[in-house]
Amino acid sequence: MTDTPADPPLIPSMQPPSMPPPTAPPVSPTDVPPTATPPTMMPSAPAADEPVATSQPGTVELINPYHSSGESGRDDLVVETKGLTKTYGQLQALHDLNLEIPRGSVFGMIGPNGAGKSTTFMILATLLIPTRGTARVCGFDPMTQQSEVRRRMGYMPDVMGVYDNLTVAEYLEFHAAAYEIPANDWQSLIGGLLELVDLDVKKQTYVNDLSRGMKQRLSLARALVHDPDLLILDEPASGLDPRARIEFRELLLLLQSMGKTILISSHILAELQLLCDQISVIEAGRLLASGNAESILSQLGAKRTVTVTYGDGTSDEFPVESDADQQALLRRLVLEGDRPILQFSSTSHDLEDLFLQITEGIVQ
Ligand SMILES: Nc1ncnc2c1ncn2[C@@H]1O[C@H](COP(=O)(O)OP(=O)(O)OP(=O)(O)O)[C@@H](O)[C@H]1O
Ligand SMILES: [Mg+2]
Repeated sequence: MTDTPADPPLIPSMQPPSMPPPTAPPVSPTDVPPTATPPTMMPSAPAADEPVATSQPGTVELINPYHSSGESGRDDLVVETKGLTKTYGQLQALHDLNLEIPRGSVFGMIGPNGAGKSTTFMILATLLIPTRGTARVCGFDPMTQQSEVRRRMGYMPDVMGVYDNLTVAEYLEFHAAAYEIPANDWQSLIGGLLELVDLDVKKQTYVNDLSRGMKQRLSLARALVHDPDLLILDEPASGLDPRARIEFRELLLLLQSMGKTILISSHILAELQLLCDQISVIEAGRLLASGNAESILSQLGAKRTVTVTYGDGTSDEFPVESDADQQALLRRLVLEGDRPILQFSSTSHDLEDLFLQITEGIVQ
């Protein structure tokens, strides 16, 4: 068995007048248009009056002629893996990975360099064949039902493909064509996407002339071209400045409110803590912990410290384990009433501490 699926992405024959020939630019191996669909399986094109991208970011609706829940598997799960294992020669990049990602959630994957995050994402994005185990993505098997998965999933790789001679608009048109979106819909679709990612002023700029953060946002817009149910985002915020990170996080939350399920990896742990409903910690291909940030913290016995500052300027620190502990402490101090309390604040150990606590820095 090879590492890459036998069914590579194909460029559909439909080409807009402004499109370069299919050989230029090359489709990056990390960009995933759906494979050509046999005529019997062709979805019907959206009707002319069907909603397309609108100009209001909060109300954007995108075209997806392919929406449907998967043909099998648990309907509440958008991604499900069982015993997913990937070896590269002697190196075991993934060990029996079991993941369940609920529909509508933002699911984060944290792990040090080489943990297996990109390997997992590439398998789910139909770009890599696992050595063992099973996966369902939107109800379909990414190993054998690649076209079905690609129609419902948008993948943003950690590195954007190179497109030398395309403007931002042409880049998105190219991908809209690859996803067989009718050319009549491109203008409103691309306008809506560029507004969503705040790149409308760069529409006619060459992709290579964008800043890194702008390229990241364009890459996200590309992943949204076919209005997928699931977004797989491999370190999408890397290289963004602090303001851009906050804006990117807000954008992802907006997409979640639009009904998308988001699988995201990051090294910026505080970022995932603020964004994700669930987080998995992975190291050397093994899942170390999973749950929401609070439950991971408590599963692993992370404690918080309450600092009480009194009116005379002195202070005390109390370790607590739960909200109930913290409430009981405050009640006790108030009832005792020995000294007036000026300030009562708790500091919880965040995911940065947790990350260092539970990962050992294993490099394979
Ligand atoms: N094509 C390949 N051939 C051989 N080994 C590979 C290949 N791709 C990845 N690996 C190895 O698999 C392991 C997991 O790599 P992966 O890229 O999935 O990690 P990651 O968690 O995404 O890391 P990072 O945070 O650095 O992006 C690493 O040890 C890596 O060297
Ligand atoms: Mg990676």
